[in-house]
Formats: sequence, C-alpha cells, structure tokens
Amino acid sequence: MNIEGSVALVTGANRGLGKAFAEALIGAGAAKVYAGARDPAAITDPRLTPVSLDVTQSVSVAAAAERCGDATILINNAGILLGRPMLAAGSEQAMRQEMEVNVYGVLAMMRAFAPILARNGGGAIANMLSVVSWFTSPLNATYGASKRAALAVTDAARMELKAQGTQVIGIYAGFVDTDMAAGIDRPKTSPRQVAERTLEGIRAGVDHVLADERAEQVRHDTRFKPEAFAAGLQALWDGRAAGVGR
Ligand SMILES: NC(=O)c1ccc[n+]([C@@H]2O[C@H](COP(=O)([O-])OP(=O)(O)OC[C@H]3O[C@@H](n4cnc5c(N)ncnc54)[C@H](OP(=O)(O)O)[C@@H]3O)[C@@H](O)[C@H]2O)c1
Repeated sequence: MNIEGSVALVTGANRGLGKAFAEALIGAGAAKVYAGARDPAAITDPRLTPVSLDVTQSVSVAAAAERCGDATILINNAGILLGRPMLAAGSEQAMRQEMEVNVYGVLAMMRAFAPILARNGGGAIANMLSVVSWFTSPLNATYGASKRAALAVTDAARMELKAQGTQVIGIYAGFVDTDMAAGIDRPKTSPRQVAERTLEGIRAGVDHVLADERAEQVRHDTRFKPEAFAAGLQALWDGRAAGVGR
C-alpha cells in the first residue's frame, strides 16, 4: 500500500524505534501519524498527534481505537526486555510482564484495530518482532519466548485478515541503537534503517521485513546451519556460566 496519504498509529512512539517509525512515516508523506505513548506529554514533535496508550490496559486500547478511527496503518512497536535466563530467580514474573506487553498488548491492539482497518480499505499492520523470534537466546530467554509467541500471533493474524485485505508484517532485527540495547556492546542498527525498511515492506506488500544484516544472517544460519547455530548458543551460555562474560 501507499504510505503517502495514509493515517498511521505507532505504539511506544515517544522514544527509540517508535520515534523513528513515526518520523519515517511523516517523512514518507503520511497524512497523519498518531504517536501512542503511556505519557502523551512526551510527544513534542508538532507533526505528530499524541495519543495516550498503554497497550496492556484494555480501557486505554479501546480509547485509542475510538480516537484513531481513521487509521490505515498500525505499527505495534511497544515492547519491554527484562533480560532473564529462563530458570533465573524472578524469571516467571519477568516472562509474565514481557508477555503482557510483547504478546497480549500486540494481540489486543490487532483485535481493536482490525475492524477499523477493514472499514478503511484494508491497510497494514506491522509488528516489531526480533531475531529472537527465530531462536532462543539463553541470556534473554524469557524475552525470546515472548517474541516467539508474538511471531505466532502475527502469523495467525495474517491468515485471518487476508480476506479483508489487511497486510500483516513481521519485522525482524538484531541489536538496534535504542535504550533497550544500551547495555550491549555489539554492533547496532540505526532505528531509522529499521523504520525505512519497514516502510519499504509496507509499500511492497511483503509478509516479513528483515530489517538489518543480523536478521539476514540469523535467518540464513537458523535455516541452513541449525546445529552450528545451536552450538554457538550453548557456548555462549557455558561461557557465561564459567564467568567468561556475554
Ligand atoms: N533495541 C533492540 O535491540 C531491539 C531489537 C529487536 C527488536 N526490538 C523491539 O523493538 C521495539 C521497540 O524497542 P526499542 O528498542 O525502541 O525499546 P525502548 O527504547 O526501550 O522503547 C520501548 C518503547 O515501548 C514503550 N512501552 C513499554 N511498555 C509499554 C506499554 N505497556 N504500553 C505502551 N508503550 C509501552 C516504551 O514507553 P515508555 O517510555 O513509557 O516506557 C517505549 O516507548 C520493541 O518491541 C522491542 O522488543 C528492539
């Protein structure tokens, strides 16, 4: 679909990738961009329309759907990472919190906006997933579980919404240069690149956007060298357990 003239809603648009998505949409000629944020006062760019939105609160999601009835694009970007190994202390609570935002938040937004997009001609939903939707990193295992579940939610919604003409995209990236990855000393992709590749994917009508080199590499390795990839993850965990570090 065309970005020009579209009306988009981005969740978690006050910082990081969400901010980059909102700016890229404006740059590409969107007629209106609703910037969803838990604190709408944090949206200071006058080109954006602030919308109060906590994706874990059903009242908030319903109010946003009421407010953004002209939306044609939904970008489910909001997410949290609590960084727990699967069996670590507090992992169950961390996974519940991550699931609330990264999975149930995405599901609630899609359910609320699917009828709106249908009414407005079909449109597109783009869900910010991750390379860890494809494999389980032992260090951020609970987050990975949520991103893997979010991939299943995305794939199911794509099938259910095809008949109404709504494109449903999964977006995959490695480390992106935002607050979320601030503590990670690895090469990072710019949020702008992820946003631009996503808009290209919306224009092209694709189902999946590999938004950086790491996503391309991981996609290849998990499909074609799964044993070597798994051995690398085991070595990562064993090295950490032995005090070698991340
Ligand atoms: N950074 C990476 O390396 C990376 C890689 C792959 C995928 N991702 C994914 O990309 C997305 C954006 O991440 P980011 O890197 O931009 O992270 P970030 O800098 O930590 O920003 C997260 C955003 O999500 C919002 N948010 C959190 N909980 C929310 C809730 N309950 N309701 C509404 N908004 C909420 C935050 O709002 P507040 O300011 O109110 O907290 C913030 O705007 C996430 O889905 C993340 O999992 C990130």
